[in-house]
Amino acid sequence: MGESAGPALRSRVLSSGAYLPSRIVTNRELATRIDTSDEWITARTGIKQRHIAADGEVTSDLAVAATREALARASLTHDDVDLVVVATTTPDETFPATATRVQAKLGMTRGFAFDIQAVCSGFVYALAVADNFLKLGQAKTAVVIGAETFSRILDWEDRSTCVLFGDGAGAVVLQAGPSIGSGGDRGILSTHLHSDGRLHDALYVNGGPSLNRQVGVVRMDGREVFRHAVVKLAEVVEEALAANGLTGADIDWLVPHQANQRIIDGMARKLGLGANRVVSTVDHHANTSAASIPLALAEADQDGRLQRGQLVLIEAIGGGLAWGAGVIRW
Ligand code: ACO
Repeated sequence: MGESAGPALRSRVLSSGAYLPSRIVTNRELATRIDTSDEWITARTGIKQRHIAADGEVTSDLAVAATREALARASLTHDDVDLVVVATTTPDETFPATATRVQAKLGMTRGFAFDIQAVCSGFVYALAVADNFLKLGQAKTAVVIGAETFSRILDWEDRSTCVLFGDGAGAVVLQAGPSIGSGGDRGILSTHLHSDGRLHDALYVNGGPSLNRQVGVVRMDGREVFRHAVVKLAEVVEEALAANGLTGADIDWLVPHQANQRIIDGMARKLGLGANRVVSTVDHHANTSAASIPLALAEADQDGRLQRGQLVLIEAIGGGLAWGAGVIRW
């Protein structure tokens, strides 16, 4: 007979952290370089500005800054962390994982670290993976980071894509605890992941180590992505709510991937949520890919909108196509 299993574990969010490069590029500045306008970008996307990493500032630098803030807010140090998961599409190098660069820069001498690649859905995927490690007892304290220097894979001559994205990083600290007793209802309630590789051509980068030696740049059929985004996000959100016996009315905060204000508004309408229950950062961050949800979580956590015990719904879709959702009792 083996030992009897302990109480079931649940991953709780202890804190959040964020980092945005100091340089801000407004729509008006972009319009001096390419054939676009503040009016076009604002009307189609809601984006007004984006942060762009400095020369020499790499994804792991952004990730480390966000993680340091999150650890400080949880009153923890890097010595308390045994798992680092970085969601990124813009790793420092082809290998090793950017997460191991983060581990070293933080000064960690133990634990394990790896990257997740699910483009704009990367944070939802990373959260799901870390949650499963914590629930199985294979790690106790994890940092889940979304970090991107997306500006490095943009074609700055292609006005239909380069105006949409920005750089940044967000992080949350997760810790495993019993799912019963005081605070037992708090934590990640469920995550739901999907992908369909047949939809590759809607959004991809035209380079990579196995194709050629160039990193490549983003290529996107914006209308096709939009069309799938509306349908697939609605489906996965419905799945997430149903799995927890919830309806839209139960959700305190929708914290969506920040691609486009029109997609965000469409999801809020479907859920019956007013703008006062949706966290939107797309106007000042643009689309930061895997960083967009943790940046939005950090903003709403740190300005007091997110309160302990509230129900938070996250959702994202991006290249792959890959999409997902999660329900968190904050
Ligand atoms: N400035 C001015 N005009 C532009 C720009 C620009 N930056 N970009 C494109 N245009 C022009 C086009 O050339 C086209 O001109 P034409 O009619 O003379 O040919 C016209 O604007 C309309 O172009 P469309 O691509 O049809 O514009 P659309 O209304 O579809 O809006 C957009 C484009 C904003 C990209 C939209 O399709 C969209 O939001 N798609 C979702 C894609 C997305 O968010 N991707 C992010 C990654 S995936 C994710 O995170 C969900």
